[in-house]
Amino acid sequence: MDDAIDPLTRLAIRHGTDKWGPHFYTPVYHELFSRLRDRPIRLLEIGVGGYELKTSGGASLAMWADYFPEGQITSIDIVEKRLPPHPRIKLFQGSQDDAALLRRVRDERGPFDIIIDDGSHVPKHVVASFQHLFPTLTDGGTYVIEDMQTGFWPQFGGSILHGGDIVKLARTAIECLNHAEVVVADRTHAFPPFARQIKSFRAYHNLFVIEKGDNHEPSNFAYDLKNPCAVKALQTIEQELQRAPTAAGMANLIDVYLRGGNPTRAKEIADRALMQWPANAAVLTAAHHVAARRGDIPAEIDCLERLLQIEPDNVVLQRALADARTQLEPPEPRRGD
Ligand SMILES: C[S@@+](CC[C@H](N)C(=O)[O-])C[C@H]1O[C@@H](n2cnc3c(N)ncnc32)[C@H](O)[C@@H]1O
Repeated sequence: MDDAIDPLTRLAIRHGTDKWGPHFYTPVYHELFSRLRDRPIRLLEIGVGGYELKTSGGASLAMWADYFPEGQITSIDIVEKRLPPHPRIKLFQGSQDDAALLRRVRDERGPFDIIIDDGSHVPKHVVASFQHLFPTLTDGGTYVIEDMQTGFWPQFGGSILHGGDIVKLARTAIECLNHAEVVVADRTHAFPPFARQIKSFRAYHNLFVIEKGDNHEPSNFAYDLKNPCAVKALQTIEQELQRAPTAAGMANLIDVYLRGGNPTRAKEIADRALMQWPANAAVLTAAHHVAARRGDIPAEIDCLERLLQIEPDNVVLQRALADARTQLEPPEPRRGD
């Protein structure tokens, strides 16, 4: 049984935080943060705990201090806390939606690698804290919203119908994550300033996890070959295929260049691939797409004829071949025309 407990859950039990038991967060946190354990990370948690009791709380802060022995732990609570001092834990008093306080916390203790919102759980506070604090995360940092279920609860200002402001924030995060796809549908769509910094969005029971990082991948619909992510992907594909060429890999590479609007490069690769795999369906299909894009009807006919040797009864190919032949040789005008 003991073996089933991860080290963070064990610390949660020892220090008496509700992050394990009433909630089920610590195994998720251990999965997310175990790789950082030995690093001098900076963690900010909103909500010391203990509520109106000044001398109570700090359970999760003690847990984090033990879990990250090199870590610097910071917390904010609306109640002025009087807890025994700890050399690596610092507390601030104030509300999580107070912009001036959040700026001071960031200036004194940031930038943060991890921010956890376990404060009031009032949706408008959660959104205000996210808007102020997400930009202060380090690149690759993680922002966690605990107890997001209050977004569904009217007594917290949430709504069962649409999840209120917290679910709206999640929707915004997912839109930002997919900004390149959203603009395919609506070029004028307005994004918040952090749109290109949301690298991932994860949802667990009562928990949202948002990772900050580069989010410049292009849309596969409007594929931009100059996009740094596309440049890197093409470099790796070309290097790998040079080392170990495959027909399927070459067909995909041809398609990527076509998507990116470079039929000349696509043709070079298609010509090379056809020499090596003259009767491969994937290569012939990709080469056919190149020929069609370039308006090269003889090449189209050649690919279609070879594809029909592989699948003689394919009516789609038969029709495409008939169409291509008609374009090459328009039908004889009928007598009297
Ligand atoms: C759930 S407890 C935190 C528990 C603690 N993080 C733990 O896991 O041991 C929530 C804390 O948030 C504080 N709080 C409530 N409203 C707040 C606000 N607007 N800003 C900052 N803290 C607030 C409460 O005083 C309470 O101590």
